[in-house]
Amino acid sequence: MNTLYLREIRRRQGPEQKGYPFSLPAVQHLNKLTLSSPVTFFIGENGAGKSTLLEAVAVGCGFNPEGGSKNFSFSSADTHSSLHEWLTLVKGPVRPKDGFFLRAESFYNVASEVDRLSDMPVFSGRNYLDYFGGVSLHEQSHGESFMALMIHRFWGKGVYILDEPEAALSPTRQLAMLARIAQLVREDSQFIIATHSPILMAYPGAQIFSLEEKGIFEMNWEETEHYKITRRFLENPGPMLRELMREE
Ligand SMILES: Nc1ncnc2c1ncn2[C@@H]1O[C@H](COP(=O)(O)OP(=O)(O)O)[C@@H](O)[C@H]1O
Ligand SMILES: [Mg+2]
Repeated sequence: MNTLYLREIRRRQGPEQKGYPFSLPAVQHLNKLTLSSPVTFFIGENGAGKSTLLEAVAVGCGFNPEGGSKNFSFSSADTHSSLHEWLTLVKGPVRPKDGFFLRAESFYNVASEVDRLSDMPVFSGRNYLDYFGGVSLHEQSHGESFMALMIHRFWGKGVYILDEPEAALSPTRQLAMLARIAQLVREDSQFIIATHSPILMAYPGAQIFSLEEKGIFEMNWEETEHYKITRRFLENPGPMLRELMREE
């Protein structure tokens, strides 16, 4: 696909930029990120600012900060940052036809909103839940409902912004997710994903931005801590385990 919906994330400088989120190194160092692949990953330590950045991008794309598709408008707690006001999102000439923003912590709320909308049969005669595979997301495990969402509700030609989707998924399901992403990319979709999963990051040709103390760095899969540490550990767990569990 040569038509990316979102092409650049730029930060504008402003006068009163103190405290959260501007105090985060990832935000301080954010100047311009140029997206060149249909799949972009944000990686980095816990607390690096991945969710903050992802949320600001999602809000800039027109999503509800709580998550969901663009017609979701529920709100449970108004805690999102003002970062989106300081971002300029450079978009491509084609507008996406679909989209979904999935926050790490609010899948439960998204599931509740789907149930609520399902009680209103207003969507071209179909029950709204049919768009999600027909089974309440609450009545499936977290991983099952997430896969149902990816398979039934992501329609292609869309922008999908996902925060740590691997949290719910077994390694086998993460591989299935890679296959589903590839399918949706062939159908002109774009993904922006925050993740810790070395499996997901292996998506061929994906762009990986690492949010670090000294800046935001683009790197290859093999250069990521996730890949190096996981590989070292799996190849020879003994020495690492002994070191970690050594009594002082
Ligand atoms: N609403 C908020 N108000 C103040 N600080 C916050 C808020 N949300 C997150 N933070 C802080 O900002 C930092 C980055 O958070 P986050 O973007 O969630 O990181 P990540 O997703 O990379 O783990 C964390 O240290 C967190 O405590
Ligand atoms: Mg996070």
